[in-house]
Amino acid sequence: MRILALETSCDETAAAVVEDGRTILGNVVFSQIDLHALYGGVVPEIASRAHVEACDRVIDQALREAGLTFDGVDALAVTCGPGLVGALLTGVSCMKGLAYALGKPLVPVNHIEGHIAANYLTSPELTPPFLCLVVSGGHSHLVWVPDYATYTLLGQTRDDAAGEAFDKAARVLGLPYPGGPRVDALAEEGDPLAFSLPEPRVEGRYDFSFSGMKTAFLNLVNQLEMRGEPLPKADLAASFRHAVVESLVRKTMLAAREKQVPALALAGGVSANRALRRRMTEACREAGIPLYLPRLDLCGDNGAMIASAAYWRFLRGETAPLTLNAVPGLRLIREV
Ligand code: KG4
Ligand code: ZN
Repeated sequence: MRILALETSCDETAAAVVEDGRTILGNVVFSQIDLHALYGGVVPEIASRAHVEACDRVIDQALREAGLTFDGVDALAVTCGPGLVGALLTGVSCMKGLAYALGKPLVPVNHIEGHIAANYLTSPELTPPFLCLVVSGGHSHLVWVPDYATYTLLGQTRDDAAGEAFDKAARVLGLPYPGGPRVDALAEEGDPLAFSLPEPRVEGRYDFSFSGMKTAFLNLVNQLEMRGEPLPKADLAASFRHAVVESLVRKTMLAAREKQVPALALAGGVSANRALRRRMTEACREAGIPLYLPRLDLCGDNGAMIASAAYWRFLRGETAPLTLNAVPGLRLIREV
């Protein structure tokens, strides 16, 4: 079963062909970073236009990489939410058109479940049930995955997503967009205990909060700047990263222990964070819980993860009518 998927929820136009939800045959990601860097963040209108221009090319390239034509594809898949509405709409329209023209079924995929599925591509031995921490630019979710394409939300951020917090910290330090990877790289040379940032207090047992930490960081940098000395940027980056990562690890391990989960996985752009990968590995080793980390090139947005997630939905007969719409606030379906 070969699925051709398109992902256009934010600033990556990505297409891929995946076989049986596990094997990547072709995977092409066109990043729009250069187009948005000038503005310090993603400009939705520019993203939509760039997707329209790039869709056909990335699909052609993914098929070429897979050595296939449309005839060799059994089904199509597309991210229908959550994300930027205009960006999502370009992908949904493109794939609806293809589905109609080719007479092939179209599978709608939630972007967050796509991130989770990156683990099926990386680790062929991974099967549900497992707990997954999804940390991206738009989401910080703690998701229980009892079965393929079945999800229960255990916790989520009350304010900023982890990636958003990293991006804001980067801005405060004067680092260019996208800031998360730059804060991570700079943090490698700094002392994580140089500055302490407040531990967030949230009501939900497995919920996160990063907004207080971000404000405290901004105040700290302002105070240091007022002294007129050069900013210890590496120490600041390391301290901020430490605070975010410790909070993510603490809450995730609390849920893992209390729910006695058989395995844990990370997903989303922030799962590329070096400190998060190291600390989770340590914590899981101590707790005796197997940990699954997505391949670095599959942490960020890509089409392969969407094609993988679509496979499990397709097996259950879930296809979309041609009235499928983009849903910017699409929730991860809660089923037990
Ligand atoms: O999953 P993703 O590519 O897109 C969304 O679905 O949002 O995640 C992008 C986010 C950005 O906020 C980016 O700064 C962050 O992931 N990110 C990182 C790292 N690599 C990407 N944050 C911290 N450390 C990294 N190494
Ligand atoms: Zn994403």
